[in-house]
Amino acid sequence: MSEIEWNLPEMVSKAYAPLFNSKKRYIVYKGSRGSGKSEAEATKVIYDILTKSYVNWLVLRRYANTNRQSTFTLLQKVANRMGVGSLFQFNSSLPEITYKPTGQKILFFGADKPLSITSISVETGNLC
Ligand SMILES: Nc1ncnc2c1ncn2[C@@H]1O[C@H](COP(=O)(O)OP(=O)(O)OP(=O)(O)O)[C@@H](O)[C@H]1O
Ligand SMILES: [Mg+2]
Repeated sequence: MSEIEWNLPEMVSKAYAPLFNSKKRYIVYKGSRGSGKSEAEATKVIYDILTKSYVNWLVLRRYANTNRQSTFTLLQKVANRMGVGSLFQFNSSLPEITYKPTGQKILFFGADKPLSITSISVETGNLC
């Protein structure tokens, strides 16, 4: 098994690095336009999947059909930058991302279809 060395404060804007290990129920990223909020959260999503085997992520935008060109693509870009892109299967038509070693999922839905968010189940671990 190979080892990956990540230096979190260097990977995301410094202000957001402490949020990686926060145990709080709600975490809000605030900052001006282009301050790195989205990149920091995307990095945390990939980090969580790799370091916590029970975590699956549900990513919500206001409209489900805007995920493909924003959150999904961002997560793909960030996973590649972190050097772990090949460990994931990226299904852009759903869209959905699967962590190949365990089957953990990153799912994408929208607040425009509230009923589609109920009763989501995942193969392994819990939805976060
Ligand atoms: N860790 C990083 N590594 C490389 N580039 C980064 C990183 N964080 C941010 N950037 C760059 O900064 C830009 C802005 O980052 P990001 O989109 O995350 O900001 P934001 O706070 O979400 O902006 P907005 O308020 O517009 O949503 C990105 O396009 C990206 O190129
Ligand atoms: Mg953003």
